[in-house]
Amino acid sequence: MTLRYLPDAGRLYGPEYARDPQALYAELRGRHGAVAPVEIAPGIEAHLVLGYRAALDVLTNVGGVWSKHPSAWQARLPDTPEAAGAIAMLGRRPSALYSDGAEHARFRKVIADCFQQIQPHKLRQMVIEVSDSLISQFAAKGEADLVAEFTRLIPTRIFNLLFGRPDSDSAGLTQALSDLMEADGERGARGSDAFSRYIGELIQAKHAERGDDLTSWFIDHPAALRTDELAETLVLVTAASYEPMANLISNTISRMVSDDRYYSSLTNGALSTYDALMEALRAEPAMSNYGPYFVLQPVHFHGTWIQPAELVLVSYAAANTEPANVPEELRSDGGAYLGFGAGPHRCPASDPAVLIAMTAIERLTSHLCDLELTVPRDELPWRPGPFHRALAQLPVRFTPIRPDQPGESPWAVQPPSSSTPSAPTSPARSAGYVTSAPWSS
Ligand code: HEM
Repeated sequence: MTLRYLPDAGRLYGPEYARDPQALYAELRGRHGAVAPVEIAPGIEAHLVLGYRAALDVLTNVGGVWSKHPSAWQARLPDTPEAAGAIAMLGRRPSALYSDGAEHARFRKVIADCFQQIQPHKLRQMVIEVSDSLISQFAAKGEADLVAEFTRLIPTRIFNLLFGRPDSDSAGLTQALSDLMEADGERGARGSDAFSRYIGELIQAKHAERGDDLTSWFIDHPAALRTDELAETLVLVTAASYEPMANLISNTISRMVSDDRYYSSLTNGALSTYDALMEALRAEPAMSNYGPYFVLQPVHFHGTWIQPAELVLVSYAAANTEPANVPEELRSDGGAYLGFGAGPHRCPASDPAVLIAMTAIERLTSHLCDLELTVPRDELPWRPGPFHRALAQLPVRFTPIRPDQPGESPWAVQPPSSSTPSAPTSPARSAGYVTSAPWSS
């Protein structure tokens, strides 16, 4: 691959970038304007779209100049571990995220139709049960690492149930995803195998016996996904919910407990949890640069020539924080700016994502109402990586609470496992959360 702009490229890796990515975005903006050359790993280059208007120009023109198909880019990568890592995150797979036009519309409709069947009040109840069962594990200690003990566990607990599996399966899924996404080498490979096994067993169980759950609805959707497409859709939904959900919840809590405008709002009625969520989505979007796009022909774009087979990454994080600010007429996002993307690939699950995050945070802050960070926010450790804004830890302390205290406590709500059958499928359990799809008889 021609390294035609490397000497100038900003590095989206290393501890300095993880500590303060906005400093790099500002520097690149000053040197290059709306589009800048970067490396996502040594020797793997990309164009980073930093400007809000430029980002919208990409996101809303997919199918014209822009495409989500990574195949041509992928074919030109060198045979290096760094390239293998990039392909693992961005390489072609038969699912919504990597397709255009009619192919994309078909995959997308399956996801959108099936997510619409989830009833908000039932999802909310599920999040309450899961959150309370997690909070009850550490509430009596007076301290916790909320990343390890709360925020990273929520997406897998929820989606495992939405997929129609017993709650007891979620520990294996969490371990598999954490190995897969946070480790290379042997541990990463172990995670990948375990995740494939989980998806395979899920499909097998639901083919054998349908329930009122996302997996069964995917299977029975009129789009008639092939088994490999079904597996890829489940992989996409799991991966697309795991990392951003956990990060959105952590980033929001870290803001609320370190900024008086928010946390005092629990008692003083200043800014709400929803305000904090919107601020986290705008200022620190969970999937900071995970907007891979490609051009179908050479394009002179906001001052930069871009060739087919070159990787373009929309930086939601840089675009959202552009100092020139965003003209109101370009905004229709309720305050999240590009936190959930825009255009045909905009997150199809932004409503359930906000509901899950709001409910989990409100359970936490209502049970533990004097949460505080044990280190200043600007000393919190962030996980390195080009695509996410992810806290590695969120250490907090609070006044401990105990199961026998008066009033409502996290122990009062039944943990999901207690009513979840241990059989391979759990229609009775999931029937409590979701409703039958209109096309299923
Ligand atoms: C309930 C959990 C979530 C699920 C199931 C989910 C699912 C998805 C899926 C399937 C896509 C691909 C859509 C397509 O290509 O047509 C997507 C895109 C996206 N999601 Fe989500 N998501 C979730 C939560 C979040 C959260 C919490 C954030 C950010 C805080 C987020 C940010 C995005 C963004 C920025 C895109 C666009 C990516 C692009 O432009 O290629 N998602 N999501």
